[in-house]
Amino acid sequence: MTEQVATNITWHEGEVTSAERHKNMQQKGVTLWMTGLSASGKSTIAVALEQVLLQQGKHAYRLDGDNVRHGLNKNLGFSAEDRAENIRRIGEVAKLFAEAGIITITSFISPYRADRDLVRKLHDDAGLPFFEVYVDAPLDVAEERDPKGLYKKARAGEIKGFTGIDDPYEAPDKAELHLRTDKLSVEDSVRAMLTYLEEHGLLTAE
Ligand code: ADX
Repeated sequence: MTEQVATNITWHEGEVTSAERHKNMQQKGVTLWMTGLSASGKSTIAVALEQVLLQQGKHAYRLDGDNVRHGLNKNLGFSAEDRAENIRRIGEVAKLFAEAGIITITSFISPYRADRDLVRKLHDDAGLPFFEVYVDAPLDVAEERDPKGLYKKARAGEIKGFTGIDDPYEAPDKAELHLRTDKLSVEDSVRAMLTYLEEHGLLTAE
């Protein structure tokens, strides 16, 4: 648990209820937490899902690992401690977006179960829906895709501590959705996530 450092701070409650927010936006806020190996398809699916949701008039926003590491988390690397802090910060940001009523789609490797579980708890404690989506491509498939040439570099010893090669990936044991991206098309995966949102009443206010 991250320690509370600041003292003399007081929570200031707003006047807008979550029901009012849902009515205003005609949807409910949620975090769709995609986890999986590099090149498993997280970002590709997130981009496609965001586009479909916006075409349907919904409010969605992506938080992407590589992108967030250019800004908010530019001071973090890939040690276990930095990955934990990366996920903790993004978990807090996702929670804020979900609270604001946005369908929040995150795509981070988030390789450690304990870090993902903390983000789940953060949402549970705030009464916000959180769905873990395991974007699952076997390592040999991800390595074959290797769109950024990073697996090649990791195998050559040019990148140390690369997830799946010499740093662990702990697969989820309680993901709400499991997408085998070596078997499903991007459209199939997007459809599965849309169906999930619909079935859980998140695309309407009531
Ligand atoms: S996480 O482990 O902290 O969740 P995150 O999703 O933010 O990782 O960033 C992963 C991206 O960083 C990969 O898609 C890849 O482009 C790049 N990357 C650079 N070095 C590493 C590494 N050692 N392990 C994994 N990904 C890396």
